[in-house]
Amino acid sequence: MGPDLLHLSAAGVSLVLDCRGPGLPSVTHWGAALDDAELSAGLSPATDPQPIGFSVDGTVRPSLIPEQSSGWLGTPGLAGHRDGRAWATAFRVTAIDRADDAVHIRASDAAAGLDLAVDLELHPAGVLRARAAVTATAPGAYWLEHLTLFLPVPERAAELLDFTGHHLRERHPQRTAFTHGLRVRENRTGRTGYDSAYLLCAGTEGFGNRTGEIWALHTAFSGGARSIAERTYHGWSALGGGELLLPGEVSLASGETYQTPWVYAVHSLDGLDGVSSRFHRHLRGRPHHPSKPRPVVVNTWEAVYFDHDLARLSELAKAAAAIGAERFVLDDGWFGSRRDDTSGLGDWFVSPEVWPDGLGPLVDLVRGLGLEFGLWVEPEMISPDSDLARAHPDWIMSTGDRLPRPARHQQVLDLANPAAFEHVLGRLDALLTEYAIAYLKWDHNRDLVEAGHPGTGRAGVHDQTHALYRLLDELRARHPGVEIESCSSGGGRVDLEILERSDRVWASDCIDAHERVAIQRWTSLLLPLELIGSHIGAPESHTTRRSLPLATRAGTAVFGHLGIEWDLTSAPLPELAEWVALYKELRELLHTGTLVHADLTDPAYSVTGVVAADRSDALFALIATATSASYPPGTVGLPGLAEDRTYHVRPQPPGHVADGNAAAWGAALPWCTPQGVRLNGRTLGTVGLRLPVLYPDRVLLVRVSADSAPGRVTE
Ligand code: DGJ
Repeated sequence: MGPDLLHLSAAGVSLVLDCRGPGLPSVTHWGAALDDAELSAGLSPATDPQPIGFSVDGTVRPSLIPEQSSGWLGTPGLAGHRDGRAWATAFRVTAIDRADDAVHIRASDAAAGLDLAVDLELHPAGVLRARAAVTATAPGAYWLEHLTLFLPVPERAAELLDFTGHHLRERHPQRTAFTHGLRVRENRTGRTGYDSAYLLCAGTEGFGNRTGEIWALHTAFSGGARSIAERTYHGWSALGGGELLLPGEVSLASGETYQTPWVYAVHSLDGLDGVSSRFHRHLRGRPHHPSKPRPVVVNTWEAVYFDHDLARLSELAKAAAAIGAERFVLDDGWFGSRRDDTSGLGDWFVSPEVWPDGLGPLVDLVRGLGLEFGLWVEPEMISPDSDLARAHPDWIMSTGDRLPRPARHQQVLDLANPAAFEHVLGRLDALLTEYAIAYLKWDHNRDLVEAGHPGTGRAGVHDQTHALYRLLDELRARHPGVEIESCSSGGGRVDLEILERSDRVWASDCIDAHERVAIQRWTSLLLPLELIGSHIGAPESHTTRRSLPLATRAGTAVFGHLGIEWDLTSAPLPELAEWVALYKELRELLHTGTLVHADLTDPAYSVTGVVAADRSDALFALIATATSASYPPGTVGLPGLAEDRTYHVRPQPPGHVADGNAAAWGAALPWCTPQGVRLNGRTLGTVGLRLPVLYPDRVLLVRVSADSAPGRVTE
């Protein structure tokens, strides 16, 4: 047994575990850093809840995996049974091991025939992650319904923010009051989902970009998931997360173990920007985080769709090289009978019909132009109209007696079937071996509906998700240099477990800059900009039919991992080249700096910025998505700068410098000139700048460089 109290602390966060036992530890405090002296002064007695009448006798302290036996009457952390028995547990701790800021807890319930293990880690950026595992220790199948981890939050967390969304509008925020009762966000789509809760935030009333105290939780799983916010009348509030299991999906024989996904949690005293900064620092500290400058991508999808033709694609590649792009990605349509989206998935052989000499001529041309070559694949899917489906109809996921309803004319390949898994692995391995492919755009274009193992009919989303992870892990082990993009009909698979084995996400199929302002802002609440694919599209958006100028499309796309998805053979290459050059100049700042957002009351405007880690340089985007009710609009503080440094503030070309200078019918705004203005960081943060009158859907980039900074932008 370990000590009575365990205190993990990092980067201004403390987690205090009450290990007095004999039951599972409970969290006495998760929030702002405490010092050990406060703990020894008796944190638990100070905060223990009072025993109340007409409830269970004694003190109730729900654990990380709350149980009824502890007096908890909210959602149990573990639900399951062995033929109707063993549904209630009373785990007793058998060991608590601590190594630095990681704790491993083991517990057992001999009567229920179950062992439990919980891992808790507090990482240097203050990101906490936890997972649990249950092992059956008695004969007979233990049918697991769910295993969910909970972290308590204080009553002052009065408001919730989580996310919903759909194709072309992923990660749409929704705010509610954190009232008594249970709020469960379930994802049954068999992928992370456009509408995943993403980051479930509980915060003090009115929390904003820079204000308020927030506790946030992310369930890192690419299959079914549940995110929970629960407040009981006993005064307990908690956030929880775990896998959503389908009926009968997991049963444990004696000796078998089920492991939950990791649940990530952060605390912030500085509003949503504080949440992001912890996640971004954590993700950037991973050993496999992309470290090379993020190359400018040209993707063929919205340029040619399925119309693959070597001559046409060669022209596109040459134009890509001319503007300074660095990676050329051949999208859907290169394989099997895939001339449209009705057939061919599963036949991962280059189509002799459209590529009579294979992909070699295009790959050689692209590489000869100095670009990397990337290829689109959708390995988990199978078209009923494909050679693979004709040869192996029994490899299609189903409940056994009927095929699920098709979606985009396709079905799902049962990757938990070893033969199907080996087949796909073999084909991808062969392609990566034959061609110099630096990048796979890994797509997944349907929800999993009635996704069972065809042989048994049993639900298979859990197995499918883990098979996908194994497939990616094996391919990455065999081809370590190859980068992978996680795409799922746009941004349907964005979570921290897929990002353990991919290098960026495709945030949305909507590349209309107006929509992207919100999609990218909210995707970047969790992910740093270098992990978010953002492309400059055609002047008229293919998905919304909105027309926007290049400066708006490019000025938003540079806040990400830049790409271009536009038929370049009819695009203004010199102007595009200027944007590519700007991105290259700024990508180190954008991909290592701190992302900040001003708190504005004017709904027409938003202000996003990236401030260099040493605060010597910053790029801000002043974005108007509508006309303002105020004319001219008010002032805005630029957050994140060093208070005692003097900065040179001026519009960053190219872009709407002229519009920003004298939009519509107004006169020039004094600071909005190439000469700009000099102010110190404190003044910029508090008084700030007068917002220019911008036409709606215009972006004005503003460069803010410390006077002493090397390599300042030239005017
Ligand atoms: C959906 C993706 O999100 C698109 O970018 C594109 O790759 C298509 N699939 C191709 O079918």
